[in-house]
Amino acid sequence: MEVLRHLGLIGLLLLAIYYVPSTAIPSSQCQKQCGGVEIHYPFGIGKNCSLEWFFSVKCQVQDDISKPFIGEFELLDISLTRSTVRVLNYIASFCYNPSSGLMEKEGFGFNATNTPYLFSDVHNKYTVIGCDALAYISDSNGMGYESGCVSKCRRLSDVTEGSCSGIGCCQTSIPKGMNFYKPDFDIGFNTTKIWRFNRCNYAVLMETTTFNFSSTYINTTKFNDTSAGRVPVVIDWAIRNGGTSCEIAKRNETGTYACISSNSVCMDSMNGPGYVCNCSKGYDGNPYLPNGCKDINECIQSPCPSGGICHNTNGGYRCSCRAGRKYSRQSNTCNPDTGLIIGATIGFLVLVTFFFSGYMILQKRKLKNVKREHFRQHGGLILFEKMKSEKGLCFTIFTETELVQATNNYDKSRILGKGGQGTVYKGLVKDNMHVAIKRCALVDERQKKEFGQEMLILSQINHKNIVKLLGACLEVEVPMLVYEFIPNGTLYELIHGKKQALRISFSTLLRIAHEAAEGLNFLHSYASPPIHHGDVKSANILLDENYTAKVSDFGASILAPSDEDQYVTVVQGTCGYLDPEYMQTFQLTNKSDVYSFGVILLEVLTGQVPLKLNGPEEQRSLSSNFLSAMKENNLDVLLPSHIKEHESTELIRGLAELAKQCLDMCGTNRPAMKEIADELIRLRKLSQHPWVQTDTQPESRGLLAGTPTTGFDDIEICASGYPMLDSDNLPMNPMSSYYGR
Ligand SMILES: *[C@@H]1O[C@H](CO)[C@@H](O)[C@H](O)[C@H]1NC(C)=O
Ligand SMILES: *[C@@H]1O[C@H](CO)[C@@H](O)[C@H](O)[C@H]1NC(C)=O
Ligand SMILES: *[C@@H]1O[C@H](CO)[C@@H](O)[C@H](O)[C@H]1NC(C)=O
Ligand SMILES: *[C@@H]1O[C@H](CO)[C@@H](O)[C@H](O)[C@H]1NC(C)=O
Ligand SMILES: *[C@@H]1O[C@H](CO)[C@@H](O)[C@H](O)[C@H]1NC(C)=O
Ligand SMILES: *[C@@H]1O[C@H](CO)[C@@H](O)[C@H](O)[C@H]1NC(C)=O
Ligand SMILES: *[C@@H]1O[C@H](CO)[C@@H](O)[C@H](O)[C@H]1NC(C)=O
Ligand SMILES: *[C@@H]1O[C@H](CO)[C@@H](O)[C@H](O)[C@H]1NC(C)=O
Repeated sequence: MEVLRHLGLIGLLLLAIYYVPSTAIPSSQCQKQCGGVEIHYPFGIGKNCSLEWFFSVKCQVQDDISKPFIGEFELLDISLTRSTVRVLNYIASFCYNPSSGLMEKEGFGFNATNTPYLFSDVHNKYTVIGCDALAYISDSNGMGYESGCVSKCRRLSDVTEGSCSGIGCCQTSIPKGMNFYKPDFDIGFNTTKIWRFNRCNYAVLMETTTFNFSSTYINTTKFNDTSAGRVPVVIDWAIRNGGTSCEIAKRNETGTYACISSNSVCMDSMNGPGYVCNCSKGYDGNPYLPNGCKDINECIQSPCPSGGICHNTNGGYRCSCRAGRKYSRQSNTCNPDTGLIIGATIGFLVLVTFFFSGYMILQKRKLKNVKREHFRQHGGLILFEKMKSEKGLCFTIFTETELVQATNNYDKSRILGKGGQGTVYKGLVKDNMHVAIKRCALVDERQKKEFGQEMLILSQINHKNIVKLLGACLEVEVPMLVYEFIPNGTLYELIHGKKQALRISFSTLLRIAHEAAEGLNFLHSYASPPIHHGDVKSANILLDENYTAKVSDFGASILAPSDEDQYVTVVQGTCGYLDPEYMQTFQLTNKSDVYSFGVILLEVLTGQVPLKLNGPEEQRSLSSNFLSAMKENNLDVLLPSHIKEHESTELIRGLAELAKQCLDMCGTNRPAMKEIADELIRLRKLSQHPWVQTDTQPESRGLLAGTPTTGFDDIEICASGYPMLDSDNLPMNPMSSYYGR
């Protein structure tokens, strides 16, 4: 018995006459679903609810369950994005009937001719099951497409579970554009002989993804039974009556273009003529309805990397990252924002540079102001004015930089002497001139104000027995003094220094003492105003290349504060040389210098240091020893042998008498410097040894105008190497012991 019918969408055709195609929006009363299946427009249930009558879905009640049908095929689902519907297709069979001993065919075709439906060539395959089966597929009575599939196997054990590859199961693809098919079994391939394990052959066009071949499909009727004779087939649909493509349909003047939703796109049908609509990327919904395409809130699926923030936008989304991080779309990660980091770094550096240079400029300006302020405080302006008015004044105002260069930034190797008042450096200024630069340790406020004025006075002193002050630097807090450089040490070194003690003749010492007296006399009598040296001692009598005396460090006296409570004043002089009267009155007079000069005369005469720290207490002070020796008329004990032997008694007596006058406890009784100088001239004439070169006749006073002599030295109160004379290092005891006499 052969039953082969063709099921189709024929029944729907009858409705066509009543159906008016329109793009009218389906009424909200249209039924939205049937039997659990969502019915999306352009499909619809009932009149005027679908786009065209082919998309009309019947909702039928079968066994009290409503089921949707398109034509005679039960509808499983509608996909708008794939433009497909899935319906249940009928399985065709070719079975051996043991009771009749005949093969029986039972089958259905699928007729969708003249409809918008085409079998999906992608999702479907013509599937044939059986161990001796050949089934054909054709689109219309063998006039067009015709194909088939053969399946063979000898035993049930030959088949493989899940594998449909010709052994018990066979599948073949179909071409595009098919809307009709008819299955047919070749009778030469029958199960007459193998019916005991394989009674039925089956053939059906069906969806591949839902099919999984099983060996029980061979020895049982399970394939037909479990699916109740129907399996899913995928059918492509499209809008095919408005035009063959999107382009044409858009231009169709009847106004039937179906993609009416905003944010929708039209696409040419992948299978057959016509077009389909789809929502634009980032939207979903129904493109066939006005505003049917809705924005997708992608952020629900948290597409951004952890730590990122999702921002939904129309048709898309945006990811952003925390500050300092940058979103990379490529890797969908939040990465450190190198641009920002580099930018920030550069910005920071620029800022730092800006502030730093600003700071430097400010500092520089400040320094300049400080320098200017110091200059002003130290009376630099007055000095400057004076220098302008008095042309030919030989005084230089040095800048700090010049002196830093001159001393190689106050290099230790340049130190000539160091003491309580400050440090003296040897320096080389422009014109290759050697100078001695005195850097004072301390200056008080009063001194500061008068500094320039005093510099002016000192700079005007021009005597061959006085160390010349060449200039000063006023722009530092404590002004620096620049003297001519005197190269041959001091009288102190000459008398007490081990090397030269024997070589120097007494008359030379006498000459030097005389020259020193001339220098001091000049300070006392011819300087205007008169200057008290304040620290006369052999270490302050410098010697130039010709062993000419140069009185140095007289500035100390004039710069010294006169306030009685100033300790500085007390220690101004040097122990052993200090005028006892000055110690009581704190009044520095020219007679204080005379007292100190008396001590120098004693040094010359006796060759002893003014203060012996290691002797018995009563013999420490040279002046005390001398005075007591004089009292006891026993001067000889103090005199060295070479003087006793070679010098005339008159000279020794005269010198001792002069020294004694100088050391008088009462200042007014002491002789003036002028008198001392005159007396020394007289005494020098008494000392004329044949082996001693005749000294140039000493000039009583003289102003060497203009250029300063070259080559020189400056030794401070505290000349290094003579700690005995350093007032800083001096214990108070010897001072008071001498003071008590
Ligand atoms: C369908 O639409 C047509 C024209 O728009 C109208 O004449 C007809 O009454 C409608 N039918 C139903 C059932 O709404
Ligand atoms: C329609 O759009 C969706 C989402 O954009 C996409 O997945 C689908 O493949 C599209 N359909 C067709 C037929 O291109
Ligand atoms: C298929 O249907 C069309 C009309 O829908 C009809 O003309 C045709 O005869 C049918 N074909 C078969 C084989 O039934
Ligand atoms: C098909 O069925 C077999 C056994 O019944 C199973 O092992 C296999 O995973 C199934 N394959 C698919 C794709 O479902
Ligand atoms: C079954 O096929 C064989 C050949 O394989 C043929 O001889 C026989 O006639 C066929 N039987 C029927 C019932 O068609
Ligand atoms: C069909 O074959 C399977 C093995 O593939 C077997 O387990 C089953 O019992 C058989 N069924 C019948 C009815 O013979
Ligand atoms: C297949 O199943 C359907 C529905 O249950 C039934 O009508 C048909 O006779 C069956 N065919 C075979 C060959 O078993
Ligand atoms: C325009 O649309 C109408 C109705 O939908 C159709 O009949 C006609 O063939 C279309 N025109 C073109 C050029 O496709």
